[in-house]
Amino acid sequence: MSFLEKMNWRYATKVMNGEKVSQEKIDNILEAIRLAPTSSGLQPFEVWVITNDDIKVKIREVSFNQPQITGCSHLLVFAAWDTYTEDRINHIFDLTNEIRGFKNEGWEEYRQMLLARYPQRDAETNFQHTARQTYIAMMAGMAQAAFEKVDCTPMEGFENDRLDEILKLREKGLRSTLLLPLGYRDKENDWLVDLPKVRHPKEELFTVID
Ligand SMILES: Cc1cc2nc3c(=O)[nH]c(=O)nc-3n(C[C@H](O)[C@H](O)[C@H](O)COP(=O)(O)O)c2cc1C
Repeated sequence: MSFLEKMNWRYATKVMNGEKVSQEKIDNILEAIRLAPTSSGLQPFEVWVITNDDIKVKIREVSFNQPQITGCSHLLVFAAWDTYTEDRINHIFDLTNEIRGFKNEGWEEYRQMLLARYPQRDAETNFQHTARQTYIAMMAGMAQAAFEKVDCTPMEGFENDRLDEILKLREKGLRSTLLLPLGYRDKENDWLVDLPKVRHPKEELFTVID
């Protein structure tokens, strides 16, 4: 299947059948998330991988009772940094120098530029920026899931504050942004399974300037 065929195959699965996804497939999906690009490469988020049934039930309770939360095999929770700090910025710049084995003047100037700007901004502005990065990473994971023939549902239909409380995210300087249940579609019970995709026609979506 081509990439576009896979994009057509995938859909926001409403009901999953509880079947387990193999660890190899999960690892590949997580690796795609890890490889996703982020602004300045700061990768300002963490991802929680939940298979624990009790926690899934608790999360479903704060997610408008959406059944994918408990019907999935693995539930991913994307949690963005609550703000940028000097330590958080320095960590990835130091890691870059360590992995690449050299210091680059331009890169160090860029570090100083970020250090002079981001930590001073208000936390909410920073969180809006970190949160956006999680959406890019989620899409990378969704595309890899389609390659693995694993179903998933991108979800922001949950009460963020209550989920943060369940996973104690605020104490770790994190705030939940997205859920991504991974599993297999329940063909008999999912009303959406065979319905055609609806998208704006190209003419409405794209403006071409030659
Ligand atoms: C950021 C985001 C949040 C979403 N939240 C939910 C959700 O909470 N529950 C749900 O069932 N679908 C959710 N969806 C799925 C969308 O409704 C779905 O992707 C869209 O209608 C397009 O359909 P398709 O993904 O099946 O092609 C969400 C999608 C995105 C991208």
